[in-house]
Amino acid sequence: MLTPVRIAVLVSGGGTNLQALIDAQNCGALHSGRIEAVISSKPEVYALTRAENAGIRTYTVSRKAFDAREAFEARLLEILEQEQIDLIVLAGFMCILSPSFTARYPERIINVHPSLIPAFCGEGFYGLRVHEAALAKGVKVTGATVHFVNEIPDGGRIIAQKAVDVEDGDTPEILQKRVMEQAEWLILPAAVEAVSRQLAERKNGK
Ligand code: GAR
Repeated sequence: MLTPVRIAVLVSGGGTNLQALIDAQNCGALHSGRIEAVISSKPEVYALTRAENAGIRTYTVSRKAFDAREAFEARLLEILEQEQIDLIVLAGFMCILSPSFTARYPERIINVHPSLIPAFCGEGFYGLRVHEAALAKGVKVTGATVHFVNEIPDGGRIIAQKAVDVEDGDTPEILQKRVMEQAEWLILPAAVEAVSRQLAERKNGK
């Protein structure tokens, strides 16, 4: 039996992707890693309630409470080190991490993005805005991507992608829901398990 790696999930909102990870952990689909902490960049978001309901330690590190990104990230690092985190999962985390932060966790930070990268990604493309842009462009297929996080926003190595059809009459909200249901909630837990397994094997000297 491999010792599971220690995972922190960083969130900023509703936390449906966090829920998908919790569900995967509960049913055993995610077993090479364990969610040890959930950190929110916004106070009182529903993701924190989801974590509390699952018995996971929660932290709020409000981005607005810090003038400088360095101070915000220093607090994040303090928690991550205290929790001895091996793998960081950005699940609807709406802050861009600095190159000095991402350099500390090479191929140990994973993000889920609601489009098929390299379409509709990079700075300014987050949440509903991604789906608004996809609809404005008139694409017929969109989807989701799970990738490693490096110094380029949405630019790290791609781990998994899944395509989702755009349908006539879609609104950004309807499309967002379909992309979550048909892509994000499936590929994120699978990617987290796959990366956790690799890290666990390394940690256990296999
Ligand atoms: C998800 O669609 C996620 O892919 C997106 O925000 C939503 C968060 O929902 N993330 C980004 O746009 C990051 N660039 P959730 O809080 O319910 O998981």
